[in-house]
Amino acid sequence: MTRPPTAVLISGRGSNMDALIEATRAKDFPAEIALILSNRPDAPGLARAKALGIPTAAVDHKIYAGREEFERSMQIVLETHKIEFICLAGFLRMLTPWFVGLWSGRMLNIHPALLPAYRGLHTHERALHDGVKIHGCTVHFVVPQMDEGPIVAQAALPVLDDDTPESLSARVLELEHKIYPLALRLVASGAVRIEGNRVVGATKQAQDALINPPN
Ligand code: GRF
Repeated sequence: MTRPPTAVLISGRGSNMDALIEATRAKDFPAEIALILSNRPDAPGLARAKALGIPTAAVDHKIYAGREEFERSMQIVLETHKIEFICLAGFLRMLTPWFVGLWSGRMLNIHPALLPAYRGLHTHERALHDGVKIHGCTVHFVVPQMDEGPIVAQAALPVLDDDTPESLSARVLELEHKIYPLALRLVASGAVRIEGNRVVGATKQAQDALINPPN
């Protein structure tokens, strides 16, 4: 089985990166993590990946005159590593339509809310403020508009009476670590396809896994 080389793009902590690395260690996982790329040379996740022997690269956005110059450098690194899929995992740079277009249908992002609710920042604070009873996370294909794009996977949990933004964030993060690998598996294996704004083709078993992600 050829496993498409996949890059995880991070800016900081990298706990979703850890989950993706861990999941793709399984021999039958239909993708391999071939590169961890960060726009911040000091990202803690970068050091951890390096220690694990995974190829890493830093393309420091601060040294470039503009977004396209920065992205052109990233693209060269991605091509050098023959990357086929990208997982954005806490990557805190806006991407231009040019770069997004290059990776159309091959770039995923994880967002800590049930899109299309709570696009943008401070999702947990806003969910608590609104008093919603259900919250969660979403993995979606990246399109030029922020936090939009066909949804691959979502997982939900109840909001508890005594939740704080921190406690809610911690529980959602646990779910993120489960559904990001599931979503990458669906996409890299070719099990699902994009039809308009929808992702279709997941088996009943894969859909059940999203409702109740395995430990
Ligand atoms: C996650 O909450 C993710 O949903 C959001 O940024 C955070 C990244 O966390 N896009 P980590 O770096 O993966 O730990």
